[in-house]
Amino acid sequence: MSDKRPRTIVAGNWKMHKTAADTVAYLERFLVRAPALPAEIEIVIAPPFPSLPAAEVMLRGTRVRLGAQTTHVILGHSERRAHCGETDASVNSKVRTALEQGLTPIVAVGETLEQRKAGRTDERVVAQIRAAFAGVRSDELRRVAIAYEPIWAIGTGENCDPAEADRVMAAIRGVLDGLDATPILYGGSMNAGNVASYMAQPNVNGGLVGGASLDPDGFAALVANAALA
Ligand code: PGA
Repeated sequence: MSDKRPRTIVAGNWKMHKTAADTVAYLERFLVRAPALPAEIEIVIAPPFPSLPAAEVMLRGTRVRLGAQTTHVILGHSERRAHCGETDASVNSKVRTALEQGLTPIVAVGETLEQRKAGRTDERVVAQIRAAFAGVRSDELRRVAIAYEPIWAIGTGENCDPAEADRVMAAIRGVLDGLDATPILYGGSMNAGNVASYMAQPNVNGGLVGGASLDPDGFAALVANAALA
């Protein structure tokens, strides 16, 4: 079983934050710290589209992977589902295209507060997983990552209880054959202070980090603390 253990990924999801100049200033600082961060953690930084070229130049030859281009691509984030018309079907077609192109899709799923209160959390995320990976072979599932992001926890400072997140993530892992080796990340108000309590859970293989990834020292501290569990 040990060879099947999912790898650990901590990804900074910058969304629309940081110009190319901001990106350069951030990476100049972050890359000084990166070599000392835990080697077993795959670090991904996903800047907004206009800053990708600057980031690509700076990250070339470093241990930090670029998100949204060349290696990883975040798909199905709730903000895109809510504001940009992203549907289960369009997420599925992007997942399949990304796999064809040799990219690593990080597929985000999660429930609203209303769905949680109605006891429909598991039903919702299971449906999102089934839809996202329709037509994807089980051997291809080893090349994807999943982020469980309860929508009510994103950007609110109200993080999901780690044991509850782990319970939902176990349910996600059980949906399809082939997800046993797939990294499943937690996202939603993860920070340097709470990351270790997530990493201590058996089904948590890293984090998809928004607000707490925007400061280079803070993100470096978060990655360092991810290995403390
Ligand atoms: P947050 O965002 O860490 O700011 O809650 C996470 C995400 O939206 O990926």
